[in-house]
Amino acid sequence: MDRIRIGGGRRLHGEIPISGAKNAALPLIAASLLSSGPLTLTNVPNLVDLGSMVELLEVLGVGVTWEKSSVLGVGGVMRLSAPGPVATLAPYDIVRKMRASFFVLGPLLARAHQARVSLPGGCAIGARPVDVHLKGLAAMGAAIELEEGYVVASCPGGLQGAEFEFPMVSVGATENLLMAASLAHGRTVLSNAALEPEIKDLGECLIAMGAKISGLGTTRIVIDGVAELGPATHPVLPDRIETGTYAIAAAIAGGEVDITGTRVDLVASLLMLLKRTGAEIIPTDNGMKIVRDGRRPRSIDARTEPFPGFPTDLQAQYMALMAFGDGLSHIQETIFENRFMHVPELARMGADISIEGDTAIVRGQARLKAAPVMATDLRASSSLILAGLGAEGNTIVNRVYHLDRGFERIEEKLSRCGADIERLRGEG
Ligand code: EPZ
Repeated sequence: MDRIRIGGGRRLHGEIPISGAKNAALPLIAASLLSSGPLTLTNVPNLVDLGSMVELLEVLGVGVTWEKSSVLGVGGVMRLSAPGPVATLAPYDIVRKMRASFFVLGPLLARAHQARVSLPGGCAIGARPVDVHLKGLAAMGAAIELEEGYVVASCPGGLQGAEFEFPMVSVGATENLLMAASLAHGRTVLSNAALEPEIKDLGECLIAMGAKISGLGTTRIVIDGVAELGPATHPVLPDRIETGTYAIAAAIAGGEVDITGTRVDLVASLLMLLKRTGAEIIPTDNGMKIVRDGRRPRSIDARTEPFPGFPTDLQAQYMALMAFGDGLSHIQETIFENRFMHVPELARMGADISIEGDTAIVRGQARLKAAPVMATDLRASSSLILAGLGAEGNTIVNRVYHLDRGFERIEEKLSRCGADIERLRGEG
């Protein structure tokens, strides 16, 4: 398995181009099931998770061509066509690899009026049930049974538009129902819908395919179902989690980093936090510049919340910054029940962090010491890379396959700004 070595203590100077968002591309790929016409996606990042999603769609009968880009920061082009009829079984051995496969449930029901999709199961950060997805689809007339770990769903005459209020904010459930409603009979009103930008991006793609949707970007989305959707071309939204990760990298390492191909509004809550820790944020016409003089960051509390609040997917990375803080900070994780697995790994580097319930109490240290550490999940592994940038010595991060699921060529993007970082192929 690959490992990554980071030699700490180098400042960063230069440009980091941001790729298309994993969490936008995944539902967009699933949306291709809704139409017989080709869906062309541009600015597609080259990520392992997208490969898993493409593998699933090919099993379902979708033709996929994917021209991957070799130029850093330039996305690839993916063409998906589902002339039909589509297969409707999403098997366990694919879904268990990547829980976002569950996004095919809504589109399969809408298009083929039936689906047999493996329950995704939990993952490292929590149980991650899908009860809200199922409640919403049942409200739209789907008959749903659970059989041997599979969701068996059917709606012989097609889905019916419905009024559905989400009992809790759920990104994936909002996306599944948004796609399902686009081909349902009649009007669907989704209330308490999640506000993550990836949902608006998906909605705009569906509209380009011929869907009738209003209220995108608000908690109340109205969809008038149409008989069929057609071809479209749509650019994948820039990755706000990648953007935030590199902004934090600059705040830890010090220097001046120009983050391009992204937007300030996608990471406003993080940038406000970074400003309070002492980083200088300069908006540019295609992203932002982060300037930091290498002094210790001010210790500032943070609490994860649904968008537009501080995102849970940046919690681990922000904790790496606070590990160098000038005092005590409290980081509260309100979205997932087990998202502190990076804590024992950061502690191996000398970080002083204690956990009380859903809150990590971080006592900042002037310096951390390099150590061999273990990546446990996607975002936690990036926090170890960031801590390595500020630690003394060579940090070795093991099991970097977690990283490759959601960060495109991270070692190249950092080394071109002066970081001492390299991938050690197939060792350890
Ligand atoms: C999406 O997951 C993202 N994944 C996650 O990113 C992200 O952390 C999460 O949204 C929150 O922003 C993708 O977009 C592919 P939720 P999702 O439904 O849709 C509970 C990453 O690192 N819940 O908003 O699964 C759930 O357990 C990943 O890229 C239910 O109880 O998140 C969680 O506690 C990690 N029942 C909370 O709601 C349900 O039916 C929020 O989950 C659905 C969710």
